[in-house]
Amino acid sequence: MIGSDPFEEELAVDSVSASPSTHSGANSESADTTHFGYTDVPKQEKERLVGGVFDSVASRYDIMNDLMSFGVHRLWKRATIDASAVRPGHQVLDLAGGTGDLASRFATRVGKQGRVVLSDINASMLAEGRARLENEGKVSGIDYVLANAECLPFESNRFDCITIAFGLRNVTDKQRALESMYRVLKPGGRLLVLEFSKPVLPLLEKAYDVYSFTALPLMGRIIANDADSYRYLAESIRMHPDQDTLESMMREAGFERTGYQNFTGGVVALHKGFKL
Ligand SMILES: C[S@@+](CC[C@H](N)C(=O)[O-])C[C@H]1O[C@@H](n2cnc3c(N)ncnc32)[C@H](O)[C@@H]1O
Repeated sequence: MIGSDPFEEELAVDSVSASPSTHSGANSESADTTHFGYTDVPKQEKERLVGGVFDSVASRYDIMNDLMSFGVHRLWKRATIDASAVRPGHQVLDLAGGTGDLASRFATRVGKQGRVVLSDINASMLAEGRARLENEGKVSGIDYVLANAECLPFESNRFDCITIAFGLRNVTDKQRALESMYRVLKPGGRLLVLEFSKPVLPLLEKAYDVYSFTALPLMGRIIANDADSYRYLAESIRMHPDQDTLESMMREAGFERTGYQNFTGGVVALHKGFKL
């Protein structure tokens, strides 16, 4: 495992000021605490705990993604690219972009006149993304920016398209992050949020629960020697706002013509919104 163990640190946090959550969903946050999976932690602690998870999983992230989703994450991401309407010459921000799945495809789409920014808060994930794009021979027209989605270091009205895939649920203040994205998007630009969501069929939800809380940590233990990070993954998915709640948060941030599309029965949803 690379880096410190976030779960040991979580226990340390627990013993001073955090209390176990009742798993009652995203609304059980208070002014001072937020969720780290099923645990309530002080808001200022979450970023460090999430950082520990992604330091730990960075080197095995891509292989684990393929195994855990049976490769289906590639289809969800292809649908996101198709929904982006990104064209040659566009400026694209792939936020919480990690190992660069989306950024790599956008780099091909925007051509020589366009620009792609791959941004992430985590240096280990960003380094994996950079190495991957460089291995693919994608070296020009791409910037790598270490940044927190809550306070983006870009000028206002810059990007034609912003994507955030499987990143938003890890962000401490999601509303602030959506507002920051709105600011840096051009008028007419679109935001695409690809994220785990709420399955629409009760039977699917049950099967998905069993899979998430048994198979995922087991795979994490066997392949990445890290069950805890994959337990956090399952818990963080359950605590993330459902489809309608996320859509209303986007509207509150200023986005218009919002909507979403469920994939795989709502296991994942793609939210879309425009700055008009
Ligand atoms: C599950 S990975 C997703 C990576 C990639 N987008 C994908 O779809 O494969 C989540 C990413 O969100 C990043 N992240 C977490 N909190 C963040 C924040 N506040 N701002 C920006 N990135 C963040 C993590 O470092 C991690 O790389």
